[in-house]
Amino acid sequence: MPGVLLVLTHENVGNALRPGKWFLNNGYMQSAIAPLRDARIHFAGQIVAMVVAETGEAAQAAAEALDIRYDAKAPIATIDDPRAKMVKPKSFNVTELKAGDVEEGLDQADMVVSRDYRTPAQHNNPIELFQSTCAWDGDDLTVWESTQNVRGVQYGLAKQLGIRPKHVRVLSPAVGGAFGSRGELGQMTAIVALAAKRVGRPVKAVATRRQGYTLRTYRAETRQHLTLGATRDGRLTALVHDSEEATNPTEPFAAAGSEGTCRLYACLNISATVRTTGVDRQTPGFMRAPAELPYLFALECAMDELACELGIDPLEFRRRNETGADPASGLPFTSRPLLACMEAGAEAFGWRDRDPRPASMRDGDWLVGYGYATAFKPAMMGPADARVTLHPEGRATVEVGTHEIGNGITTALAITVADRLGLAVDDVEVRIGDSRLPASPVSAGSNTTASVLTAVAKACEGLRGRLSKAAVCDKRGPLAGKQPDLVRFREHQVEAGDAAEPLTIAITRAGRGQPMVGRASNNPHGLPPILGPILVRRGVPIIKGGSMLKDRMQFSFGAQFAEVRVNRHTGEVRVPRLIGAFSAGRIVNPLTARSQLTGSMIFGLSAALMEETIVDPRTAAYVNNDLAEYQIPVAADVGHVEAILVDEPDLQVNPLGIKGLGEVGVTAVPPAVANAVHHATGIRMTRFPIRLEMVLDGLAALGR
Ligand code: MOS
Repeated sequence: MPGVLLVLTHENVGNALRPGKWFLNNGYMQSAIAPLRDARIHFAGQIVAMVVAETGEAAQAAAEALDIRYDAKAPIATIDDPRAKMVKPKSFNVTELKAGDVEEGLDQADMVVSRDYRTPAQHNNPIELFQSTCAWDGDDLTVWESTQNVRGVQYGLAKQLGIRPKHVRVLSPAVGGAFGSRGELGQMTAIVALAAKRVGRPVKAVATRRQGYTLRTYRAETRQHLTLGATRDGRLTALVHDSEEATNPTEPFAAAGSEGTCRLYACLNISATVRTTGVDRQTPGFMRAPAELPYLFALECAMDELACELGIDPLEFRRRNETGADPASGLPFTSRPLLACMEAGAEAFGWRDRDPRPASMRDGDWLVGYGYATAFKPAMMGPADARVTLHPEGRATVEVGTHEIGNGITTALAITVADRLGLAVDDVEVRIGDSRLPASPVSAGSNTTASVLTAVAKACEGLRGRLSKAAVCDKRGPLAGKQPDLVRFREHQVEAGDAAEPLTIAITRAGRGQPMVGRASNNPHGLPPILGPILVRRGVPIIKGGSMLKDRMQFSFGAQFAEVRVNRHTGEVRVPRLIGAFSAGRIVNPLTARSQLTGSMIFGLSAALMEETIVDPRTAAYVNNDLAEYQIPVAADVGHVEAILVDEPDLQVNPLGIKGLGEVGVTAVPPAVANAVHHATGIRMTRFPIRLEMVLDGLAALGR
């Protein structure tokens, strides 16, 4: 066909590309299941060919004209298929946790709630499509690709291509959404690089929305059984959480969130098990709050039900089970401002106006309900390097190989440097998203602000120390002989003495008109001191926090409130108000922090009411693989969304007191909405998304 330059298939790729290693096998790949390696197709929607042409239209037309034939085998499509087999899970989290004696705990209980819960498959669906552009210059490859880990792509791709990492440069200055889908290297990039090599020209590939459903990972569906026991006065005595997740049979990823949910309340008798079931679909992976979103749903719905059965206010029930230490291990939380969040949230929401009886609040045909759930997410950090340059004209450049994934890190970096060096935010140039910049961890697990700013603040401290010394050692300067550690930095001046009548010297003069470079490397608590920074420089996604530390528990918290209105006739559920109060350490920038949290809550609302990937049981293909049929909220679906920032610097986590907040805001919305639906109607929702027919069936069963 006209314009066609190259067709890559398994016949002419084969061993030219190495499959790479899966990230849970110490590799860089989202999945090591390599397309075009041989004639085998592992799942519906796998890459089987790539056409390179002069234009995108010519390539697409030629791709559609390809005659592809294959023998089909009946797949195991879903977790509910009776032929599906258990596989041994692999996870960052533990998949078994036991403490105390649950039999005894259940014997002590006056009230027990025991239910099945289910959560759906979901796709991350970033608005920016999955794309990659590769260009060779001799032996050197440049890749332009949206990623949460430029160095991971650099090192992983070098391995796949059999070249040295220094020959690969990855550029990703801005990311149009990711939510976990761009955390590791996908299989398309190396094929684009190979195509560029073979045609001797740069090649760009943009997957369609539908192709994106199988090109990367997704959030797998879960089935959970949770049993909670409590005494009449509302003390938890037993928690049994048995879960099952769908996964790929050869790459048995598990999100495994019960380890976290076991640590949320003061319950001494615990048993949690996560199992995985193989389905013939691509390898699942991370999606915003991967472990907490599905697992907190079960816990927080069961907590609400138990509170209701005991006749205790749901907030009061949580208060009675508050703890300063993880009950299973006895390890203390670095800080645990949950009660402060509950108070601030309850006040703003007007929780005290709630009539506790289900179906007691009405507004015409609308049944009104108020629901609560606790939000909870590990506070993670990784090693990071940073470089800050102070230029002679009084401007600064900060360089870190991190990624702007919508977290506002660009602004947070400028604020931090400006604040430390006494400059204006506009004086700071921020350079990120390049594998040649100082190393930064994968932008995932809500670690970025804490990890990157800690290193940058250190680099600034180094500069301040040198500038202070230079200022006080300058014998003819105004600060001569002052104490260097009492020196301040503000408004482009280095300043000492009385704050009302300070002695000042311009920062540019203190620097003697030369550019000054401050470098720093930070390795957070709990990571191997020398190896940590080395690994992050090689793009290894090494981040730790939550319950992964040997001596403490490190979490962000929140209190999530939801008001729902359920239409008696149509079963429609509207959410006019979502109010959350969150504590994530020191807030660097309230504007971007609020944006992250309100965005998170809308993400959670989307999960509660809309998002679900439907699998065709005959083909194991995704049926609703576009944004016409994979439902997400539009502006009219979103009411008043408010994030209250409970500022509480946690100086144990890092000297700046920062914890992450990108994901904590997602975690409790589905249970808060489900609990509000119960309060409005009396119907217990044990799965999300909550659909009209579930509400209508429930109302009919209750005769409402
Ligand atoms: Mo996020 S799911 O930790 O990239």
